[in-house]
Amino acid sequence: MTKLARIVTAVSLGLLLLVGFGRGEDPAAKLRSDQDGLALTPPMGWYPWNEFGQEPQNEKLIKETVDALVRSGMKEAGYTYIGPDEGICFSRDASGKLTPNLARYPSGLRGLGDYVHQQGLKYALYTDAGTHTCSKAMPGTKGHEFEDMKAFAEWRADYVKVDWCNTAGQTPQTAYPKLRDAQLAAGRPIVFSLCSWGQGQPWKWAASVGHLWRTTADICAPGKASWTAAMKNVEANEKLSASAGPGHWNDPDMMITGMSGLSEVQNRSLFSLWCMMASPLMAGNDLRSMTESTIRILTNREAIGIDQDPLGTQARIVRKDGAAEIWAGKRLFDGSQAVLVFNPGEAPAQVQVTPGDAGFEESASLYVRDMWTHQTSGPRAGSIRVTVAPKDVALLRISKTSSFPLPPIIVADSYRVVFHASGHSAQKLTKAIAVKNNGSSELPLWTVSPGLPSWLSVTVTPSGKTQTFSNQVSVAGLRRGHYHAVVKADNREPLSGLPMSALYYDVDLDVSGAAGGPANN
Ligand code: GLA
Repeated sequence: MTKLARIVTAVSLGLLLLVGFGRGEDPAAKLRSDQDGLALTPPMGWYPWNEFGQEPQNEKLIKETVDALVRSGMKEAGYTYIGPDEGICFSRDASGKLTPNLARYPSGLRGLGDYVHQQGLKYALYTDAGTHTCSKAMPGTKGHEFEDMKAFAEWRADYVKVDWCNTAGQTPQTAYPKLRDAQLAAGRPIVFSLCSWGQGQPWKWAASVGHLWRTTADICAPGKASWTAAMKNVEANEKLSASAGPGHWNDPDMMITGMSGLSEVQNRSLFSLWCMMASPLMAGNDLRSMTESTIRILTNREAIGIDQDPLGTQARIVRKDGAAEIWAGKRLFDGSQAVLVFNPGEAPAQVQVTPGDAGFEESASLYVRDMWTHQTSGPRAGSIRVTVAPKDVALLRISKTSSFPLPPIIVADSYRVVFHASGHSAQKLTKAIAVKNNGSSELPLWTVSPGLPSWLSVTVTPSGKTQTFSNQVSVAGLRRGHYHAVVKADNREPLSGLPMSALYYDVDLDVSGAAGGPANN
């Protein structure tokens, strides 16, 4: 075996052991997320397409956007997944292997992934189920599904969006399950985002294949935010509320909030609609030059709490009053209810929201919290009267109690731990990562999955809403070489008892100078 082959074998074995899924597992499980615990709340992050299209997607843009996401407070608000979309990232060489485009991504696609992970974010990449991506500037996966998903795993992608261009003769119902099998075989836990724009009606079958699926055409052409097009996506997506839930989400496309051409009111309304629809919150604007107003909207933790609710219910329009729409049917983890009054019309709307609209008995005495003014009123009986300006919303949380807890928002200081050891002695090294919950509760201790390799042990200690994962490696007996493991941890939201999305991070260990020669495990 070559050194590289040995490393890859060690990595794959380690992953299969730790994560517990691979070729042997039943790919027809009810939900894809049953196998990996991923995306139990809608994924949050950023993708470049809506603002930039193909140009200028490159390493500089992605790194600058990572920095802007952290600086703006979006990371603290829960935005996690980030990376290039159709950004001319790779080509296929003569042997059929994907090769990173080093002119655009000088650190390579693995190097960019490492940067993202070290900032405490997760790495998103893009490909296509057909022969080529939409512009034909990148190869698609058709006929190379297994090699390509292995490449994505080696680049350490945590999220892969798979487009549907150049797919003549293929059907989503067969192409996407094959890619699912290829991802499972590659052994790295990956959020799978299907992007057939609703073709093949993925909401009927794709919950066992991926974690989210586009329900509509593109929300805009690159750089050209359109309120009208966004409203079409909302209309189509609203009808599919029954298909969404933890680990399987309807995706009405990346957001356009904060792009030029939209007013503050429109930005707030679009964001509120995405939160009510439990939609993935993938920002699509230029994070490097956001206004204060856009930052306030995108980081409104009370609104995000509605989107990230552990019950994962998608709201629907329960009633119309003139032009105004009353969106409800979204019970939250603490027994409160989210209600949106949206006025797409041209004149101010006055609407009475009844306790019944909100899912309570008509006689209930209720507290009402406004997610945009951050004011609570009540207790009160009877209808709640709201006046909503044209294109604006009232986004409310209604409860029998006056407390409005936020669900967990998990923020890590890093998703990668790197050790360098000389290997000359029975050296023990420790490095920690801190995982914080920006929601209301203190979480139970994260439970690390068994099956860590013998050179690694992990202990978790709490300190208020932060828990520290101490990673200890024992170099004794290890040969020279590179070792890699993925640590998985699980938790439960304490109020509802519901499982939370699994936490995964990479541990790399380089052992140099050991007496025993190269690693052979
Ligand atoms: C499709 C997708 C978009 C984007 C482009 C890239 O149109 O729906 O989100 O990924 O391809 O070409």
